[in-house]
Amino acid sequence: MGNRVNLGVNVDHIATLRQARGVDFPDPVDAALIAEKAGANSITMHLREDRRHIQDADIYNFSNVMSTHLNLEMAITKEMIEIASDLKPRDCCLVPEKREELTTEGGLNVKSNYEQIKQACHELTGYGIRVSLFIDPDIAQIEAASSTGATVIELHTGAYADSESHNKQNELKKIKKSTEYAYKKGLIVHAGHGLNYDNVKNIASINEIMELNIGHSIVSQAAFIGMDAAVKKMVSLLSEARA
Ligand code: PXP
Repeated sequence: MGNRVNLGVNVDHIATLRQARGVDFPDPVDAALIAEKAGANSITMHLREDRRHIQDADIYNFSNVMSTHLNLEMAITKEMIEIASDLKPRDCCLVPEKREELTTEGGLNVKSNYEQIKQACHELTGYGIRVSLFIDPDIAQIEAASSTGATVIELHTGAYADSESHNKQNELKKIKKSTEYAYKKGLIVHAGHGLNYDNVKNIASINEIMELNIGHSIVSQAAFIGMDAAVKKMVSLLSEARA
């Protein structure tokens, strides 16, 4: 494997499929176990306030059988902090959440919500949880994040992933510059959102990024070739990127 970037597989959309029918399959925990065996270094589950995909039982069930660790993605609410304090996942990734959005649309505005975010970091860190802040690749946000108590930032790669080809290099440059800045500040850098088999290598080759969190593309590919093969295919691209 060399020094490939770690892969966190987000299994939310296995739960989306289950919830669409209101039955008990497919089980995101089953998908997570296959992903772990196929080389995933961690599993991400986003427990949304509206419970549209992952349910409370999923995060507990997975935690009881996992061989890697859980990255619990969540909004900064009293309810979520209580759940995290009970479950104590290794990682919590704090994200902004709007009920009407299809997926997490932008990063946290750490500058404008500094006190609330700092307080959440303080509480979660007190439970022994490593806290990550999902932010746009923006120097001012990184600067603000660096004094919240969070040790990790996850850079939002959505603008890079969605950009037209003429703008891709520009968006990539922002991610590289932000990574370098955060790394020099002593933050651990993760990245994710919108990454797929075609666009992941540019990001996976940035040496200072420790972990990529990828969901939709892997789950979509799994519908055709199976979860095991879909994860292995991504792992092999990540290995090639730093070969
Ligand atoms: N990281 C964060 C913080 C996210 O909110 C999401 C989407 O849930 C992802 C990574 C994964 O994004 P995608 O499903 O587009 O791979």
